Amino acid sequence: MDKIIIEGGRPLQGEIKISGAKNGALPIIAATLLCPGTHTIRNVPELRDIRTILQLLETLGVTWQRVDTNTLEINSDNVTEFEASYELVKTMRASVLVLGPLLARLGQARVSLPGGCAIGARPIDFHMRGFEKLGAQLELTQGYVDAKVSGSLRGGTIYFDVPSVTGTENILMAAVLAEGTTVIKNAAKEPEIGNLIDMLVGMGADIEGRSTDRLTVHGVKKLGQADIAIIPDRIETGTYLIAVGAVGGDVTLTHCNPSHLPALFEKLRYSGLHLEKGKDTIRVIRSGNLKNVDLKTMPYPGFATDLQAQMMALMTLTNGLSVIHENIFENRFMHVAELRRMGADIMVDGGKAIVKGAGKLTGAQVMATDLRASASLVVAGLAAQGVTEISRVYHLDRGYDDLVGKLSAVGAKIWREAE
Ligand code: UD1
Repeated sequence: MDKIIIEGGRPLQGEIKISGAKNGALPIIAATLLCPGTHTIRNVPELRDIRTILQLLETLGVTWQRVDTNTLEINSDNVTEFEASYELVKTMRASVLVLGPLLARLGQARVSLPGGCAIGARPIDFHMRGFEKLGAQLELTQGYVDAKVSGSLRGGTIYFDVPSVTGTENILMAAVLAEGTTVIKNAAKEPEIGNLIDMLVGMGADIEGRSTDRLTVHGVKKLGQADIAIIPDRIETGTYLIAVGAVGGDVTLTHCNPSHLPALFEKLRYSGLHLEKGKDTIRVIRSGNLKNVDLKTMPYPGFATDLQAQMMALMTLTNGLSVIHENIFENRFMHVAELRRMGADIMVDGGKAIVKGAGKLTGAQVMATDLRASASLVVAGLAAQGVTEISRVYHLDRGYDDLVGKLSAVGAKIWREAE
């Protein structure tokens, strides 16, 4: 297992190219199961989660090849199996995204029920209820969800108690080939869902309401081949913006979408960062002191829970009090104990963290506990005085394409070592 070592305190200067979105690529790769053909997926990031979903698709009968660094051709002429094993689902919860397309194509799917994870219980009851509304019978046996439909899926109306990102994606993929019309009420509106809708519409699906919380899907009989580019990763983008905020400097992010981070922009500007948006670039400059801000995580377009940990690291560097409410996941403060090891003063009370900024952090040995918690330790390490060693970095490899290379290129002293 590798660790990452950072010598903190070097302002960042230069350009960082943003990769395709992990959370955009996962449902899109799963959606290639929907119909036979060779599907072209562009701007795919090089990540462990992408390798995991491709491995899962292989076990179902799919073949794929990389035509260049970021372009995949996925052939799904033969989908012979319908089971996603515990071995794969336990390493990546997003494996449940094969349920919708397998049900639509084969009329059956067997997917291991994900267990709890580091950030909370994360049930999939909305997905399951949604499939039932479309006429599937679901049974839970030996830790697996067995889903079957006699004949084909039928349109239905689904309401989510709270908007679920992968729930919306799973139901969308099942509904495109169902008989009749499906309405998803209180659907999630994350840009990655728009990316999936663009793919499905390009394949011949009939979907109304893109980017709204009410999606209407008129089922079609057949879909064709896909050719789609993954949108830029807004969480990677946000992480680098916050990193520049933490350590200072002047960096331009390229190949990104500045309109996908409305809440973060608001908070960073208030915090004292200078941000210039271009068409697909963002220049970020921090010269002066940081100001404390409060925030609440919310479904999109609210502040992303996937940026909460990184923003908390930034708030430890102000000289004021910052109140952070985590409203999406019940246990998403695993980074707090690690940030404390670096000198942060943070009190947690249920879903609320109170950060007393002390204006500085000091390097320490810390441990990555989940993907975004690890990113917050990188942000903290870049800004800290002295050396920070982050162990268990396989979490970072799940979601950050060439993190060490990208940060080194803008002047950070950061490297990997075998533990
Ligand atoms: C997705 C993202 C993840 C992000 C999260 C919230 C992917 C692959 N992952 O995860 O990075 O942190 O959105 O933006 O896109 N819920 C239920 N029952 C369900 C489904 C969800 O109670 O069946 C709850 C969850 O526990 C959570 C909330 O709904 O409290 C939202 O979760 P959801 O949007 O489903 O998260 P994921 O899709 O798993």
